[in-house]
Amino acid sequence: MRLGIISALAEEQQGLVEAMRGPAKLIHGMREYWAGTLWEIDAVCVLSRIGKVAAAMTATTLVEKFGVTHILFTGVGGAGDKTVRVGDIVVAEALVQHDMDASPLFPRFEVPLTGQTHFQPDQQLSLRLSRAAHDFLERDFLETIQDGERQAFRLDQPRVHRGLVASGDQFVNDGAHVNSLNDALPGLVAVEMEGAAVAQVCYELGVPCAVLRTISDNANEHAAIDFMRFVKSVAAQYAFHITRRMCRDLADMP
Ligand code: ADE
Repeated sequence: MRLGIISALAEEQQGLVEAMRGPAKLIHGMREYWAGTLWEIDAVCVLSRIGKVAAAMTATTLVEKFGVTHILFTGVGGAGDKTVRVGDIVVAEALVQHDMDASPLFPRFEVPLTGQTHFQPDQQLSLRLSRAAHDFLERDFLETIQDGERQAFRLDQPRVHRGLVASGDQFVNDGAHVNSLNDALPGLVAVEMEGAAVAQVCYELGVPCAVLRTISDNANEHAAIDFMRFVKSVAAQYAFHITRRMCRDLADMP
């Protein structure tokens, strides 16, 4: 196994390159790819930057140039449903591009000529990712997220959700917009800007992937400020410890 680990922002991948054994940097397509051993797993870490094209380019490069066999995307997202709160964790069960609309030629959300609106991540990998997220909340959360931060973000017993993740080239900061996406997309739990692009690339190239999002905001009028605060203070701890647990688990795989 060779695991590609993508995040959009530096804060979402902080500490991973430092945790790598024998890291080697390669610059390609204006991005830094770090290859090395991460908790006994052969891994390549990279920042995609933001948006679907950036993510698709990065995922493709990981597969075609770096030979990764599996891809993990970690980062933050906006809540896509009222039951999902800031500090909760979402593991994608399916991904859709919410700004894809070639109607009336094709149904809304369908990626033309694929016949698909939704792309499925790998079940096994996603199950392991959920387990890593649960373990983080049960075993690392109180130790790694300080009291002050837990209070500031009202992180009261965060939960793990499995469900639909919607990606688009938009930072959603409008309550009415996220409600209309929730109405149009049953099972929606998070909105973000990259996951469904990675899922489409992985589907087309036959590479298993999994997508993790920690909820940083409610995708409403307060989203920009909430997002910035969350990313600056706690997003890195979530991503780092969940990735660590996931790699350890994968290393134990027969
Ligand atoms: N990532 C984190 N929060 C987001 C939001 N509200 N919209 C899109 N992407 C996000």
